[in-house]
Amino acid sequence: KIVILDFGSQTTQLIGRRIREFGVYTEIVPGDAPLTCTILDGAKGIILSGSPSSVYEPGAPVPDPAVYNTGLPLLGICYGLQRMTADHGGRVEPLPEREYGGVRVTLEAVAIQNLPPTSGAGKARAFLSSFAASLSPAAASPTASSGAAPTQRDSSFTAWMSHGDSLALLAPGFIQIGTSAHGFPAVLIHESKPWFGLQFHPEVTHCEHGRDILKAFALDICGAAPEWTMERYIEEVRANLAQRVGRNPVLLLISGGVDSTVAGALLLKTLDPDQVHLMYMDTGLMRKKETEIVSANLNRLGAKHLHIIHCEKDFLSALSGLTDPEEKRRAIGDLFIRIQEREVGRLGLPETYFLAQGTLYTDLIESGKGVGKKAHVIKSHHNVRSPLVEAKRNAGRIIEPLDRLYKDEVRALGRILGIDEDIVMRHPFPGPGLAVRILGEVTREKCDILREADDIYIRELKRRGLYDQIWQAFAVLLPIRSVGVAGDVRKYGWVLALRAIVSEDGMTADVYPFPMKDLLEISTLITNTVKDIGRVTYDISSKPPATIEWE
Ligand code: XMP
Repeated sequence: KIVILDFGSQTTQLIGRRIREFGVYTEIVPGDAPLTCTILDGAKGIILSGSPSSVYEPGAPVPDPAVYNTGLPLLGICYGLQRMTADHGGRVEPLPEREYGGVRVTLEAVAIQNLPPTSGAGKARAFLSSFAASLSPAAASPTASSGAAPTQRDSSFTAWMSHGDSLALLAPGFIQIGTSAHGFPAVLIHESKPWFGLQFHPEVTHCEHGRDILKAFALDICGAAPEWTMERYIEEVRANLAQRVGRNPVLLLISGGVDSTVAGALLLKTLDPDQVHLMYMDTGLMRKKETEIVSANLNRLGAKHLHIIHCEKDFLSALSGLTDPEEKRRAIGDLFIRIQEREVGRLGLPETYFLAQGTLYTDLIESGKGVGKKAHVIKSHHNVRSPLVEAKRNAGRIIEPLDRLYKDEVRALGRILGIDEDIVMRHPFPGPGLAVRILGEVTREKCDILREADDIYIRELKRRGLYDQIWQAFAVLLPIRSVGVAGDVRKYGWVLALRAIVSEDGMTADVYPFPMKDLLEISTLITNTVKDIGRVTYDISSKPPATIEWE
């Protein structure tokens, strides 16, 4: 495995994902964590990530000094490189102006050729030749730098930069072999140790050769084996559950989303299906045919104890008369917990049962602010502040079989386990369901109207090959009616808003630039099919300032 020390950069997660893409397992740990045996066990190399901090700031994250004595190959990225420099007698200073975005980086052939014949240099040559091969004149774009001297063109590429500090003095032993177009150190190696530094971000897709660089580091330099496969993951989960759970029952609450469905399928595959209790609440706030689709999938995968709780009436009456978004959410959350407690009680499982959750790797790591700390991020009301979950957590009886996976890996696993593509590729759906997409009071009638319109919208996106280009798409029923005509008759119909956004993680989002033809045709189809809807609008707001959901 490759260990990534997270100093809080927004792209730390991407480093892990990129390296896993070519089959090497990665583990992200807080940048200032003591390097315990568990962290180092099986580690073939360590990457020091970027950070929003500056190395000279008080409180800037500092790695366990042992990292420099492990003998393992190190790759410092941005702050990681500056950290290595500052920790070894070099100097880091603020730049007069940030280097941001695509910046040309030129590798210095002379510096590379003159490297001393030490092991570090040998590794460095391997490192560089692994991706420099693709920088040959034939591969270089003829339009890229037409005026530049051939030698420059041959060994330069566009890297992705985002830094306000730079190396003012290299630490002893470091050799600069790449320079940015603005004249700042961009690629460094150590003359005797397998240490490398990049001032740019190879994990960002816009960085030319970024993937090659990470691959060269993980495979060629560290010698990590590309053995991270989903089949192997299944076997590890099987062994782990056999040891932790034994013959005890396991209960999983299924929401209908990708994560909990895959978690359910994984439990059925790795445990005796007789041990596995799956509980799904049909709140009446679900998408069209959601309950049928989810239960058909789980039954097909061998579920023996699938408990479907029909509680639509309870939810609709709890929501009756409520119009304030926060009150609606609270009412749903409270009722969810009450019904959950009651129904789990009814199952009569022995005290020793385990509660499974579909938590992902990214849910466990809080990045962004400061050094990544392991924290259970509150994501869904299904597993938030629930006394049941808290009690099980305190008793050490929670299992999270997806907690080492990224979302795309969960999807790949879902496919291997035989879950339908429709569920595997499903867009996210909020815990409170349609209740936050029906503005104002929620009624059964409005749920039905929205369900129908949303279903047409989503089916059309799939039919037109647009669904997988969009991160999340859905319809929203507005609490407004407007005048229209149907035949010769005036009609007073509801207004529907369509939303489609592209995003990396839902934290920020851009409006999907819908082809106008598709939008017009979908609008016509909805107003022709759902008679209560008289008008369709398209939401063109990004996040921020708008949120993805309307409530
Ligand atoms: P917002 O509206 O905050 O949504 O921009 C970001 C993402 O989170 C989803 N979302 C929720 N998911 N429980 C959930 O499980 C919720 O209460 C909830 N509210 C929003 C939303 O669909 C989007 O993907």
